[in-house]
Amino acid sequence: MQFTVALDGPAAAGKGTIAKALADKTGFAYLDTGLLYRAVGARHLDGDEPIAAAQSLNAADLEREDLRTAQVAKKASEVAVIPEVREALLSFQRSFARMEGGAILDGRDIGTVICPQAEVKIYVTASVEARARRRFDELVARGDDVTFEQVAQDVADRDARDASRDTAPMKPAEDAIVLDTSDLSIADAIDAAYRIVQQKSA
Ligand code: DC
Repeated sequence: MQFTVALDGPAAAGKGTIAKALADKTGFAYLDTGLLYRAVGARHLDGDEPIAAAQSLNAADLEREDLRTAQVAKKASEVAVIPEVREALLSFQRSFARMEGGAILDGRDIGTVICPQAEVKIYVTASVEARARRRFDELVARGDDVTFEQVAQDVADRDARDASRDTAPMKPAEDAIVLDTSDLSIADAIDAAYRIVQQKSA
């Protein structure tokens, strides 16, 4: 059985949390595609050329401890505008999406470019304020030295870059269901997404 759930949307909207919960409930495999771009960004920070890094990405790159830092997030968004970087990461994501047993992918272009035939497409979004607050709390809990204003600016900059690039810009697929999590608890956001998956798989 092939069944793809595409979860797209801006940074810190709750995609990852929803995706993991859906994977637990459905038993589908889960891929956080942002990690691929983060791994390329991290290699670029080490001095590697981004296209070469994307073409030679390996399992160890995806296990680096620094992939969740604000610095790597920014680099990830920068290398993600390069068409050859996106191209190098395409076939892995496509095969993952259509693997037997079902797959959930979260990212920016899953429903539009990676898997336009996905059975479920959800565009998870939230206000910049709500997303910046969540990301700020996450970074502070991890011990990062950041201010709320800095985090809000980073989120807004990343949105602008991800949405305005020429190749595979972040946007809802025409047939995506938009889920705004600004005023939803985590449990309610997960329930809403799970109901959508159940309806489409019935
Ligand atoms: O989802 P994330 O915050 O981990 O993603 C980091 C960056 O990677 C994001 O700002 C843009 C890029 N990205 C992308 O261009 N396409 C994807 N499918 C996933 C992430």
